[in-house]
Amino acid sequence: MDASTLTRDLLIALDPVEMAHAADLAPDPWQVKFLRSAAPRVLLNCSRQAGKSTMAATLAVHTALYEPASLVLLLSPSLRQSQELFKKALSCYRAAGGPVPSKTESALRLELDNGSRILSLPGKQDTVRGFSGVRLLVVDEAARVPGDLYFAVRPMLAVSGGRLLALSTPFGTRGWWYEAWRSQEAWERYEVPATQCPRISPEFLGEERRSMGEWWFSQEYECKFLDGETQPFGREDVERAFEEEVEAWDL
Ligand SMILES: Nc1ncnc2c1ncn2[C@@H]1O[C@H](COP(=O)(O)OP(=O)(O)O)[C@@H](O)[C@H]1O
Ligand SMILES: [Mg+2]
Repeated sequence: MDASTLTRDLLIALDPVEMAHAADLAPDPWQVKFLRSAAPRVLLNCSRQAGKSTMAATLAVHTALYEPASLVLLLSPSLRQSQELFKKALSCYRAAGGPVPSKTESALRLELDNGSRILSLPGKQDTVRGFSGVRLLVVDEAARVPGDLYFAVRPMLAVSGGRLLALSTPFGTRGWWYEAWRSQEAWERYEVPATQCPRISPEFLGEERRSMGEWWFSQEYECKFLDGETQPFGREDVERAFEEEVEAWDL
């Protein structure tokens, strides 16, 4: 290994921000803080497209690489979303130059020579049951992950003292993620409206506001928790607009 590769590997090992740089990302200020945080419990309440999944995937890979024998679980509401999130993790792992070789790679699983594993799971009780000693648990699209599932996975962190990152765009005034956000519990909280994302232009936001209307715009881009009773039109229409497949929960 030449000196420059060694220096690069060391920098990445010491600082997840360097790992984002290796993946050609220049993290936004909130992303820098998030990547360097050691808080055991973190809530990200962010606009769509703010970069929450990408940053969580970066931390997942960093943890697996530099905490040997660690188990990292990525939990998403649907199979498609877990595949997407895992792809982000895999591309981050590749961008880091594979400082720890992989043993197994599949569409939802990466196992490294240092004994660490990253598993991406769609949120169903039977798929998440039975894991323990989790070093890092990421819950993506957390507002759409049902409470019984969330309360089923939390104990997996107990013995390992693992970290929990719950990221989402708001989805109404209900559910565990909303309750956590407004609770007095010791979560580190990040609120990132679209106006704080340099990749989303004011022109685009203006267009979105006009086509979606105020209610949806506030929820999807301004981090607002809104009451379903005041909802002007169906969630399906908005989901279609985002071209995101949302599978029904099947518990
Ligand atoms: N700091 C950054 N620099 C450049 N691109 C970024 C950065 N953060 C996120 N992105 C890109 O923005 C897009 C949306 O990111 P994603 O993580 O999917 O957002 P979210 O999960 O918040 O909807 C992706 O294409 C991602 O690569
Ligand atoms: Mg996402």
